[in-house]
Amino acid sequence: MAVERVLSGMRPTGSLHLGHYNGVLKNWLRLQHEHECLFFVADWHALTTHYDTPEVIEESVWEMVIDWLAAGVDPANATIFIQSRVPEHAELHTLLSMITPLSWLERVPTYKDQQEKIASKDLSTYGFLGYPLLQSADILIYKATQVPVGEDQVPHIEFTREIARRFNHIYGKEKGFEEKAEAAIKKLGNKRGAFYEEMRSAYQTSGDEEALESARAMIEEQQGMSLGDKERLLGYLEGGGKIILVEPEHKLTPASKMPGLDGQKMSKSYNNTISLRESVDSVAKKVKTMPTDPARIRRTDPGDPAKCPVWQLHEIYSNEATQQWVQNGCKTAGIGCIECKTPLIESILTELKPIQERAAQYAEDPTLVKSIVAEGCEKARKLARETMRDVRDVMGLNYS
Ligand code: TRP
Ligand code: SF4
Repeated sequence: MAVERVLSGMRPTGSLHLGHYNGVLKNWLRLQHEHECLFFVADWHALTTHYDTPEVIEESVWEMVIDWLAAGVDPANATIFIQSRVPEHAELHTLLSMITPLSWLERVPTYKDQQEKIASKDLSTYGFLGYPLLQSADILIYKATQVPVGEDQVPHIEFTREIARRFNHIYGKEKGFEEKAEAAIKKLGNKRGAFYEEMRSAYQTSGDEEALESARAMIEEQQGMSLGDKERLLGYLEGGGKIILVEPEHKLTPASKMPGLDGQKMSKSYNNTISLRESVDSVAKKVKTMPTDPARIRRTDPGDPAKCPVWQLHEIYSNEATQQWVQNGCKTAGIGCIECKTPLIESILTELKPIQERAAQYAEDPTLVKSIVAEGCEKARKLARETMRDVRDVMGLNYS
């Protein structure tokens, strides 16, 4: 396909930590230089589980945007916005709900899993069941082609693809579609028209994906052809109708190996995090009180880094030489645990320092942060409105 459009969202439910930074954010930072990117605060999604503590969301929204900016998400390269400021998401969610079988929602694995996991809250709500559909609306409204997410979110992207397919199937059949598509082929000229027919038949008769891709590329490059005709040709390639909503791909975020203070994955629910705004003293204290290999009761007892969560952090933060020093020193009782933790504290502080300096600058200038978001919302809204025009059109809602 032509250009990729990347979209991802994060729920504002607390402050960001090193796990987010090393997993999600570093990935975003890379993507913003490679593709068109949209990153948004999924405040409505946060409400599906935090409906009784809206103050948590309210506080987290701006802090989260500041953390993104501090981490290096660059408003010149990525559109940053807030979901609820683009109410078109809600409109699309409502319209998509008309064609969403309940059973599709009920069988999304996160539905039952999360309901059991968050047993302290009543999640037998309409909003929670509709969570994946709202996410579909987030994605489809921007015709996003790539959605970077963690493993747990993959079923939501698959679900989104199914919704897009169903929508296109039901509403993508404009009157006289085949005639219009054939007329558009003629507009390609003899040579390209013949190429199109050849590729189309290779795809439709033998599922030749390469043929599909070459024909798509050719259409994308076609100069001076209307968008409507391009879309007809794209839809006709696959045999269906017009493609109104684009099926996205998930883009698996490289698994964050970021361990927490106790050796489990770093996560707020395990209470083992170092936040991006953690103070110097608190970082030092948290690392100093980390559990170590239980065999090292006395300073003179040798230990095994493989049994120590501190080592897992050295694997991320320390160079070869330091790692050697830890391995030898630990196994021979040549170094003590506090000694072992010192370079780690240094490395974490070094990583956090520029982030915290930038965060402080943004925190001191709320007007700047708000204007970055306002601009992002405006840009996002423009794209969202375009899609909604098409959607309303095919659903018979463009009265005039
Ligand atoms: N459900 C996602 C999560 O919990 C957040 C999210 C909401 C999202 N809408 C999205 C992610 C659209 C990607 C695209 O992580
Ligand atoms: Fe862990 Fe380092 Fe102590 Fe070994 S010396 S147990 S690796 S903290």
